[in-house]
Amino acid sequence: MKTILVTGGCGFIGSAIVRHLVGRGLFRTVNIDSLTYSASPASLVSIQNNPSYVFVHENICNRKAMSDVFSLYKPSAVVHLAAESHVDRSIDGPAVFIETNIVGTFTLLEAALEYYRSLGDDCRNTFRFYHVSTDEVYGDLGDSGLFTEETPYQPSSPYSASKAASDHLVRAWFRTYGLPVVLSNCSNNYGPYQFPEKLIPLMIIRALKGETLPVYGDGSNVRDWIFVEDHVDGILTVLERGRIGETYNLGGNAEMRNVDMVNAICDILQEMVPRADGRSYRQQIVFVRDRPGHDRRYAIDSTKARIELGWIPRQTIHTGLRQTVAFYIENKAWWQPIMASRYNGERMGSGTSGRYLP
Ligand SMILES: NC(=O)c1ccc[n+]([C@@H]2O[C@H](COP(=O)([O-])OP(=O)(O)OC[C@H]3O[C@@H](n4cnc5c(N)ncnc54)[C@H](O)[C@@H]3O)[C@@H](O)[C@H]2O)c1
Repeated sequence: MKTILVTGGCGFIGSAIVRHLVGRGLFRTVNIDSLTYSASPASLVSIQNNPSYVFVHENICNRKAMSDVFSLYKPSAVVHLAAESHVDRSIDGPAVFIETNIVGTFTLLEAALEYYRSLGDDCRNTFRFYHVSTDEVYGDLGDSGLFTEETPYQPSSPYSASKAASDHLVRAWFRTYGLPVVLSNCSNNYGPYQFPEKLIPLMIIRALKGETLPVYGDGSNVRDWIFVEDHVDGILTVLERGRIGETYNLGGNAEMRNVDMVNAICDILQEMVPRADGRSYRQQIVFVRDRPGHDRRYAIDSTKARIELGWIPRQTIHTGLRQTVAFYIENKAWWQPIMASRYNGERMGSGTSGRYLP
């Protein structure tokens, strides 16, 4: 049985990949995760006792530990997701983003290259180092146009700058050392098991708790949304069929203004769990001070992945959002312990001491 090494497999997207890989039973899946605040081992209870699943509690910045993992498990591919992932936190404390996203990726590349060079020809031909990245590296789009794989990098936040740096490192290890890499840059993910600091779960949970629904600025910033399982499908498609050294943009074909997204969440909640007083959840919306450096619009052109690899996202925003809202309604036992101990819904990245100020 071949082995796939996943980094960050206790996070939102990583856990979806691990559940998928272990569930299919085609690979042994080794998950390296240092269990930061955003990790949720509880997202993996359905597969944690499966014999083809291995958990390694380790930091990707630990070079010796990474080399040991490669020697011990001899993976045929690495899917690298471990990262600090929240823009607002990167504004308050960029250092850990530099450490994990840049130094950690560099460390993993070094360990992977050493391992790759030790392989025989057969294994070398099939080995892949896959870097999972974001469309935020491209920066701010105007009112029209789409990000393509040729769009120049112009990151705005410490988060997106650190991801841009890690993308460049991965490509350099291909060009300079011949490490067989492949990358994808994806739009905003949503779905079950997303840490509650991100827009969609935060709005659902705050709405259910009867709290205000804080929308940054005037709510007109536009994001493209992709259901996490479509992203997982995209990653596995690129891993299987993507050309070495290439980058593929993955998007959900679902551009939406933030305020429209929050309104849509309110309307689905109204249908699934109407407020006791019969009024709309929309009345909980408040507009708060904008995020510094907030990009106005992101939108992805996934033509390359569609034409070359036959990949398309399957969920519409309508079907994906309904599943997501239902998950948070039905799985309070997953998010309540997080809100009680690790993040209680406060404002970050605005210098307003955790408060949502207008
Ligand atoms: N969420 C999105 O919308 C989105 C979109 C495009 C790309 N991405 C990228 O996908 C990846 C995963 O994103 P996510 O939303 O699942 O993030 P997440 O914050 O939910 O999960 C990150 C995981 O990485 C682990 N981790 C962090 N630092 C580590 C370290 N030094 N060593 C080992 N493990 C470490 C954490 O413990 C956590 O389990 C990231 O690289 C992110 O940049 C995310």
